[in-house]
Amino acid sequence: MATSVNAVALDESLMPEPVVHKQAKQTIDPYNVSGEVGEDGVVKAIDYNKLVDEFGTKKIDDELLARFERVTGKKPHHFLRRGIVFSHRDFEAILDRHERGEPFFLYTGRGPSSDSVHVGHTVPFEFTKWLQDTFDVPLIIMMTDDEKYLFSEKRTIEEVQGYCSSNAKDIIAIGFDPAKTFIFSDFDYVGGAFYRNIVRLSKHITLNQARAIFGFNESSNIGRIHFGSIQGASSWASSFPHIFGEDETKTVGIPALIPCAIDQDPCKHLMLVGSVSRDFRMTRDVSSRLKYQGKPYAKPSLIHSLFLPALQGPGTKMSASIDESAIFMKDTPNQIRNKINKYAFSGGKVSVEEHKELGGDTNVDVAFQYLRFFLDDDDELEKIRVAYEKGEMLTGELKAICIKELHTYVAAFQERRAKVDDETVKLFMERRPLKWGGNPRAPIVVPKVNGGDAGETAAEGDGKMTKNQLKKLEKLKQVEAKKAQKAKEKAEQVAAQVEPMAAQAA
Ligand code: TRP
Repeated sequence: MATSVNAVALDESLMPEPVVHKQAKQTIDPYNVSGEVGEDGVVKAIDYNKLVDEFGTKKIDDELLARFERVTGKKPHHFLRRGIVFSHRDFEAILDRHERGEPFFLYTGRGPSSDSVHVGHTVPFEFTKWLQDTFDVPLIIMMTDDEKYLFSEKRTIEEVQGYCSSNAKDIIAIGFDPAKTFIFSDFDYVGGAFYRNIVRLSKHITLNQARAIFGFNESSNIGRIHFGSIQGASSWASSFPHIFGEDETKTVGIPALIPCAIDQDPCKHLMLVGSVSRDFRMTRDVSSRLKYQGKPYAKPSLIHSLFLPALQGPGTKMSASIDESAIFMKDTPNQIRNKINKYAFSGGKVSVEEHKELGGDTNVDVAFQYLRFFLDDDDELEKIRVAYEKGEMLTGELKAICIKELHTYVAAFQERRAKVDDETVKLFMERRPLKWGGNPRAPIVVPKVNGGDAGETAAEGDGKMTKNQLKKLEKLKQVEAKKAQKAKEKAEQVAAQVEPMAAQAA
């Protein structure tokens, strides 16, 4: 997809006109940001403050995090604390609603394009799970099998449908609560209320806008041009009457919070406002113009995260088809150790003497960057940073710590993944009411399923789930709890085994 489009900005007040700094060393427009290139030809770190300024999104700052903690009673996730999840649109509106006990839901998705799932794929879902646990709200996960067919010359429909079911298993293995999570495939779910919304959205997007936003041209197939309205329509609660009820005058007001990653172009070292976030900017614009029987559509809120870099270093992105670029969720402890030791770009100096004297650069060191994603303990991370930058810690030692954390993470995942079967997938993908609590410290005003009155009753005990479904859910929960315990034990075992080996490799 084109990376540099001279866009006609949509009429959204939060979105300023595109600004291009012709002379600036760092180039920013609504679609790309290229880091300044130093004399050594190496791209420098992106200035994220500038990025959020120019895109018209808001930076997630300390004030917002403090408010988050007050409203949820929970310490912000380390992605939030460390600027990995760094910008947002209207996240405050979600906190306002949560504070008042008003419903919202989480929406995210995955394009099923390969069976090779790597840590770069699972990380955004980890964060989504954390949001679900924190807010106790429904989560909707869209599998864009249609998108992956439309945007590839080669893939067949059968192929993407195969990936869809295996990718759904990987997503479930993250540990989502089946009582609160609905996963669907576009090929299966389009129709009814969802399709009505898709058509509503598409009616309000002109070809000119679609071209400006996504960079389509005369040769683009028309399925691609239309796809944005499918992805966008899932951010409207009224697309899911089995979850939010049939009464659209109530459901159009329930917003989505969409966790989404900012794309990165590994070849050109560009940060891109990827097609997904562009799509939701468009959906927000249409939402602000639409009403259902006088009731305005809620605009989706967004929260943007960075990608985990590929082993080759900052500014690169893991690729499902390049084994050396990523840590795959199927990798064995040995493969993980070898990859980190062999390929992980190092910020260390060429010789031990020089390293001890000058210290390493944690900003570009991949092992350190991965620890920012996988190590929750701030104090420990800080100790590592200081020791490495002072040259007291060597690259081998740093890599050994990183290997240990990855081993724990991947082993726990594999343990859970082994237990997910076709039945589990069926359960998550079944059209059914979900059960959630919302904010326990506020009066719950979740709309009743099947057209019940919003503001009156909680979803709690709406009695619409069949006994069989409830039994299944209960069983699944017990299995999940057992799995988690086993995974923990196994991970500790694995970590204990590999630690000495990793230290040697250093
Ligand atoms: N288009 C995304 C992909 O290719 C999948 C997706 C659909 C998505 N809806 C989303 C991602 C909402 C983030 C948020 O992976």
